Amino acid sequence: MTGRVPDFSIHELHLPESLDGPDGKDFRELTSVLDTMVLETWGSLDRASSAQSRLAGWRDTPYEASRNFFARVGGRIVGHASCQVPLKDNVHTAWLQVDVLEGHRRQGIGTALLRTVEGVAMAQGRHVLQAHTEHPIGAAGAGAPGGVTDDGPGVAFCLKNGYALEQTSRFSSLDMDHDAEWARLELAARSKADAAYKVLAWTNRCPGEYVDHMAGLMGRMSTDTPAGGLEIEAEAWDAARVRQLEDTTLAEGQTSLVAAAQHRSTGDLVAYTVIYLDPSKPWVAEQDDTLVAKPHRGHGLGMLVKLANLRRLQTECPEVRRVMTYNAEENEHMLSINVQLGFKAAGYDGEWQKRIK
Ligand SMILES: CC(C)(COP(=O)(O)OP(=O)(O)OC[C@H]1O[C@@H](n2cnc3c(N)ncnc32)[C@H](O)[C@@H]1OP(=O)(O)O)[C@@H](O)C(=O)NCCC(=O)NCCS
Repeated sequence: MTGRVPDFSIHELHLPESLDGPDGKDFRELTSVLDTMVLETWGSLDRASSAQSRLAGWRDTPYEASRNFFARVGGRIVGHASCQVPLKDNVHTAWLQVDVLEGHRRQGIGTALLRTVEGVAMAQGRHVLQAHTEHPIGAAGAGAPGGVTDDGPGVAFCLKNGYALEQTSRFSSLDMDHDAEWARLELAARSKADAAYKVLAWTNRCPGEYVDHMAGLMGRMSTDTPAGGLEIEAEAWDAARVRQLEDTTLAEGQTSLVAAAQHRSTGDLVAYTVIYLDPSKPWVAEQDDTLVAKPHRGHGLGMLVKLANLRRLQTECPEVRRVMTYNAEENEHMLSINVQLGFKAAGYDGEWQKRIK
């Protein structure tokens, strides 16, 4: 699809077969512009994805489909928009993102990109549109309690386009130098979890005997973590979906470290946590999902599995200097664990939503 207004043009991105193939010119330019956008906002590439990760992550799977568009001015890419839709659950929603390079804002490019991806979402029958804005602490006006200030361009843009702020996520960063605190927390978590639970760990692929348990726990991430006012339904997870995510992670060039807690008397997995590593940014890791099954909460398992995984990270990946993570601002229990571990707020993401019927 191509649209044109006086000074810029909008194009749909064709995903190349490979990163360096002859059909990858637009993709390569876009991915480098996306890195510039992350640098403009955050001053580092910690939150950027590698080109390999974007290419693999944007390919359709049985669970999710994506379309990407870019805006050109004078032959250069200056803006990007995406529409991602879940296919097995949440089929009323679409996740949209629009970004324009700082020097090209306030010329209607963002609006044109947004209209494009809103049109794609509506054509697929989606009537709940979700998007996010980013607010680093230290940026002008940011860092106030709650974290999503009303003076950023993204906020004005979302409000103008009929989106409402439904949730705030805290973006935190942990320096890997908390040995003394972690030793103390380990003792406390072990004494709480006593002999009833055993910690298991794996890299990239869940052992076959636990994959159904993992699917059960991963499905709970969509129901047991706070969603604010976002209209999110339970995700449908089974063993095939766990394997699909593992395959995508590997295709993205990433490594996943998983730690899980097993209930000794039943053999069930009752808690898990995941850290992702990307070789394109060896200095940073990402703490992703952590979940403890409801009947097993209050035994220190969240802390236990997180610490077990951080210790693996220390041993297996000594080049990692910090770990980043995202949590809903109202997720008191998870935030309390993270603060005890040494995570410090580095910014906030606003989660926005618009209903179109
Ligand atoms: C938000 C963003 C995409 C807007 O891109 P853009 O090309 O500047 O958007 P437009 O020129 O179409 O602006 C549309 C309207 O949004 C509002 N707006 C955008 N930036 C604004 C700002 N800095 N201050 C006040 N209003 C602003 C205005 O109402 C503007 O209309 P106007 O220029 O006629 O007053 C861009 O600032 C950006 O990339 N920000 C970072 C990513 C982000 O927050 N994306 C939004 C969530 S998906």
